[in-house]
Amino acid sequence: MATQTPTIDKAPGRWARKYPHLGQEPLPVTPYVDPAYYEKEKAQIFKKQWLYVSLERELPEPGSYKVRRLDCADTSVIIIRGKDGAIRAFHNACSHRGNTVVTESGQETYGHNRAGIVTCRFHGWVYNAQGELVNVPHEDRFYSCFDKASNGLTEVHCDTWAGFVFVNVDPGPVQSLKDFLGGYADHFGGFDFAAADYGFTYHTTLDCNWKVASDAFAEAYHVDTIHAGSFPNVFQAAIEDVQLFGPHRTCSVRLQLDTPPASTPIGDLANERSRSSLAAQAGSSSLPPTLNPNQDPDWAFELSVLFPSVLLHVSEGIWFTHQFWPIAHDKTLWEGKYYLKRPESYSELWGFERAMVLQRNAWLEDTATMEDTYRAMLSGAKKFQHLQDEEILIRHNCVVVDDFVNA
Ligand code: FES
Ligand SMILES: [Fe+2]
Repeated sequence: MATQTPTIDKAPGRWARKYPHLGQEPLPVTPYVDPAYYEKEKAQIFKKQWLYVSLERELPEPGSYKVRRLDCADTSVIIIRGKDGAIRAFHNACSHRGNTVVTESGQETYGHNRAGIVTCRFHGWVYNAQGELVNVPHEDRFYSCFDKASNGLTEVHCDTWAGFVFVNVDPGPVQSLKDFLGGYADHFGGFDFAAADYGFTYHTTLDCNWKVASDAFAEAYHVDTIHAGSFPNVFQAAIEDVQLFGPHRTCSVRLQLDTPPASTPIGDLANERSRSSLAAQAGSSSLPPTLNPNQDPDWAFELSVLFPSVLLHVSEGIWFTHQFWPIAHDKTLWEGKYYLKRPESYSELWGFERAMVLQRNAWLEDTATMEDTYRAMLSGAKKFQHLQDEEILIRHNCVVVDDFVNA
């Protein structure tokens, strides 16, 4: 019997054919600009789903803690490692008169206490890493109805996957983290995130809805125009290997091997000394078989969306995230965090520094569109957006968010 080589569908409309339930019609602008819609997103998504808040390695030893502000869930959380090694999470709210226990300095606050305790600065109530209230100054002045044992910190559900720490502020989550991640965890679980522990981060607050920011990073259609300065002729405008995993999604971004970018002596040298830049990627050798399964030489990186608002990218020895934290319906904190293997020589470090600058330029180009897009949306001039087939990840997000909002 003759064997048949599977054909890969490259014809226009291929993703709509693969995922017909996502539809093809224009999508309304209302979910981006309507404050009432945002309130439903908070209630149905950000206060009910698992949110990535830290890496385990950001809490290296007992007593290490981090406070993550979650405006999208009307709270902030303390994530703390106990003497038993376990990581737990609590609302950052004191049982006395409700002050934040750990004073926040920005969106992320780090600390360490060798005794494994946190102390509210207002009147000095002390909690341990299990959340128990262990000391109340002038405790004898409280009335007999006050029960110290039942006035610990309010625990938040917390779990980990592949070195990532997630919280869920719903008192009774409908899904475990494992069930929430589903096939997404299988797809990326074999990647060695721990090996790349050196990197850089940029962040800024944008006057736009969180979905405008997330959408702008979730397609490669804009690369030829927006990134003509930073990555000319580097990446293809079409995506490959689109897969949906429940509310999550992934695809691969490919290099333009037939019309490679003009080489420069400095760029060539940097890419030779250090493969720190996505532009220096080609093929794969140490990736799990779920990523670039056919070992295609033009495979550059995997672009995925971990619902609701994290973009996770992985490549050979590199991974990075974009995280979009809603602050209000029209305000979003964007954080880009890029990790790679620690340079072992000065020439590798130089290649890394160059990659960092290139990436900064590209992210400046990306973020520069978002407030413009949002201002135009607010004008009301356009009621719909028209997505092409290679913007299928954005369409999937619109459909998934709408399903949660209307659940
Ligand atoms: S509010 Fe925390 S000790 Fe008073
Ligand atoms: Fe971009």
